[in-house]
Amino acid sequence: MVIYLAGDVDEDARLDDMSPRQIVSELDKHVVGQRNAKRAVAVALRNRVRRQKLPPDLAVDVMPKNIIMIGSTGVGKTEIARRLARMSNSPFLKVEASKFTEVGYVGRDVESMIRDLTEISVEMTRQEKSEEVAEKAELNVEERILDLLLPPPRSGGGYFDFDSESIEEEQKPEDDEPAKDEQFQRTREKLRTQLRSGKLDNRLIELEVREKNFPVIEVAGPQGVEEMGINMKDMLGNLFQGRTKRRKMRVDEAIEYMMQEEEERLIDMEQVARAAIERVENSGIIFLDEIDKIAGRESGHGPDVSREGVQRDILPIVEGTTVNSRYGMVRTDHILFIAAGAFHVSKPSDLIPELQGRFPIRVELESLTIEDFKRILTEPRNALIKQYQAMMETEGVTIDFTNDAIDSIANFAAQVNQQTEDIGARRLQTIMEKLLEEISFEGPDLEPKKQRIDEAYVEKMLSATVKDQDLSRYIL
Ligand SMILES: Nc1ncnc2c1ncn2[C@@H]1O[C@H](COP(=O)(O)OP(=O)(O)OP(=O)(O)O)[C@@H](O)[C@H]1O
Ligand SMILES: [Mg+2]
Repeated sequence: MVIYLAGDVDEDARLDDMSPRQIVSELDKHVVGQRNAKRAVAVALRNRVRRQKLPPDLAVDVMPKNIIMIGSTGVGKTEIARRLARMSNSPFLKVEASKFTEVGYVGRDVESMIRDLTEISVEMTRQEKSEEVAEKAELNVEERILDLLLPPPRSGGGYFDFDSESIEEEQKPEDDEPAKDEQFQRTREKLRTQLRSGKLDNRLIELEVREKNFPVIEVAGPQGVEEMGINMKDMLGNLFQGRTKRRKMRVDEAIEYMMQEEEERLIDMEQVARAAIERVENSGIIFLDEIDKIAGRESGHGPDVSREGVQRDILPIVEGTTVNSRYGMVRTDHILFIAAGAFHVSKPSDLIPELQGRFPIRVELESLTIEDFKRILTEPRNALIKQYQAMMETEGVTIDFTNDAIDSIANFAAQVNQQTEDIGARRLQTIMEKLLEEISFEGPDLEPKKQRIDEAYVEKMLSATVKDQDLSRYIL
């Protein structure tokens, strides 16, 4: 788990407009080192933008250059992908290849990754559209709420408001219509101001809402429904859509409810689905993690699906096929696949040849050095040290780390990695947790409020545990 601190996302960093160099420098903000891997993904991403600018007859033949990232555990493979995902406005899905080898609930069919990617794309596109129509929707909602708070005259029916204090004035018995109209408009505008300033949020109004409680129906069959790409809930939703009932709610709740309704009305979902599919086909990215776990040609033992079987299932998708999703057919030819794995036991050459050919770019991630550890602790946007500082800051405690303290932490991490098992930068997390055990526990009770962590403190907290190999195996 990575903690994302507020306010760190570069909203305006848009992958489509970025040169490879810019992509790399954006990645540099979060991932230390690993220059080759960063360059490879940057080029692959830029190539898709280039492809889209080609004349269509040429573009169809330009296939994505899929990538395999090879590197031992905890050196930043997933981290690079995660950062790409946050930067990109392309639909992005991360799946563990190994999950397709398991039977039972998690053992999903391989095509489901395309469906999931489409789902993500639809949601992205819908979100964008809803931002586009937000202004219009807000205006409509405002009018509708005002109509409810103060029903227009002549439309029959008195107004139903449950605690009328501020709306009394318009009820003067007057017979001449134009004056009444004017009076009505004035009150309405007054209400509008109050509504906008949130003064009416607590008021109750009654409105028509759609029935939403579907009868519970168990859908039998393991994957049948998913395979057909049909969503039961949607079908049932349509079935019961006609029914409405009147409900009282607070104005602020009503606004939220109506906003959804207006958005649904203003957004053409069919258009969204078409755009979303196009987006998946042209710029979708699938990150296939743990690909080494499916390398190897022997068939698996026990009930698990064989690894080679999974490779054969994945192959057509990587090569280009058509997958049926509930939004329509999706062609997978130009989806970019980035695979990653430690390849300790197996090698990329253990993949079936057809699949190897589909991943022409291989990049190796280097093992992390003590120097890298130091940088990882301090440099990235949300580096571990910054995270701990921010966390303690919420309790009014300021922690300072001296430079020798950082050196010492990095040294201990490297030492433990060497003595026990090399888990890369993940080691820093266990080390930091141990180091700050007491400070975290004392939290708000800590005195003084300014804490300085120097080499001696690191030494005191860690050296005993690190020296005792058996102990460090358990604790660090
Ligand atoms: N080069 C790096 N720069 C910054 N942080 C890193 C780097 N490498 C690893 N990390 C940190 O270590 C943690 C684990 O890294 P990551 O998830 O990328 O490992 P991985 O290479 O995918 O390993 P695995 O093979 O076990 O999946 C991440 O939370 C990340 O913050
Ligand atoms: Mg990983």
